Amino acid sequence: MARNTCVHPMALLGIQNMIRAAIIGMGVWGQNLVNSVQGLSKDIQFVAGATRTPAKAAEFAAKHNIRMLDSYEAALADAAIDAVVLATPHSMHTDQIVAAAKAGKHVFCEKPLGLDHASTKRAAEAAAQHNVILGVGYNWRYQPALQEIRRMIDDGRLGKVLHIEGNFCGPSAYRFPKGHWRHASDESPAGGMTGRGVHVIDAMMYLAGPIDRVTAQSKRLAQDFGSDDTTSMLLHFAGGSTGYLGTIIATAETWRMQVFGSNGWVEVGDVSHLHTWNLTTCMIDRSNVTNKQKPVTTSFPETSTERAELEHFALCISKQQPLVTPEGDAVRNAAVLEAIIRSSTTHSTVQLG
Ligand SMILES: NC(=O)c1ccc[n+]([C@@H]2O[C@H](COP(=O)([O-])OP(=O)(O)OC[C@H]3O[C@@H](n4cnc5c(N)ncnc54)[C@H](OP(=O)(O)O)[C@@H]3O)[C@@H](O)[C@H]2O)c1
Repeated sequence: MARNTCVHPMALLGIQNMIRAAIIGMGVWGQNLVNSVQGLSKDIQFVAGATRTPAKAAEFAAKHNIRMLDSYEAALADAAIDAVVLATPHSMHTDQIVAAAKAGKHVFCEKPLGLDHASTKRAAEAAAQHNVILGVGYNWRYQPALQEIRRMIDDGRLGKVLHIEGNFCGPSAYRFPKGHWRHASDESPAGGMTGRGVHVIDAMMYLAGPIDRVTAQSKRLAQDFGSDDTTSMLLHFAGGSTGYLGTIIATAETWRMQVFGSNGWVEVGDVSHLHTWNLTTCMIDRSNVTNKQKPVTTSFPETSTERAELEHFALCISKQQPLVTPEGDAVRNAAVLEAIIRSSTTHSTVQLG
């Protein structure tokens, strides 16, 4: 499946063959990604892996029949690997994507794709230039409830999107010991934004389009391990909608997003686990607007959003169909992140291009 090879005849028929992937970074999330598909998917399997401290992942690799490699470079040079999946610290992502593109390997990268717009765009351009598929770990887009909100906007049920409120919080600041890469301000600028907030920004852009203005504040109120813990912002969307987002990483776990449309509101979120299988809606009764409406909750079947995103990546490889593009949302997300960082440090409103 590498660059300059012929497209497999099965792919031309729209029939997918198994993508052979290497997991790069075998920490908490790298192992979670492997668990989501290994032995379960007919579209993608992990055949190899590389991580900074191989001893920590040896048992996991043996259990999942993953061949351990000495380095990332070894994975890029391995002809028996079609794609690399990056679950590494944030600051490594864009250089690793460019290296994969140059080696002709398809690459799926965990969020955030990059920490600033220029390097993130450069990474996406490298993938396009070298004709490899680039995927990104914004797995929330595979949540059935979020997809239903998108349909409610597309078919007019929700009306015009007026405003979106979101928060994504939890005790991340306490979870990692002092000195852990997650606490470094260059790995986790603007507190919980890289760990948590970028997911909500992605969901908001999925529903309301590009963000063009940001006013943010970010503070360290609970402990001083290097990163902020209390971050919030006002957002303005190019289409005219407004929004706000908070991410507090020194409190208990919660996430919630409420979308206000001109026909009513919808809400997703769950305290006990990060994905949501419930969608609460409350619509205006136009025949009697004084009527107090009762919210209605719909439940969706639980699915693995990690498996869905990796299988979609595999499908795009088989079809040679671009996923992340230089002008797309995952790259714009990095521009929004950069604007949030700038706004919170300069105490000013930042306009995006
Ligand atoms: N989509 C989601 O919902 C979600 C959830 C959680 C995390 N993530 C993302 O997944 C990625 C990895 O996060 P994680 O929670 O899995 O982190 P983690 O547990 O700390 O794992 C990071 C991995 O990268 C390796 N690594 C390579 N070079 C490193 C370096 N210079 N410093 C530190 N580690 C290095 C580590 O190696 P050793 O430990 O072997 O030394 C480890 O295997 C991040 O991009 C994160 O945002 C996404």
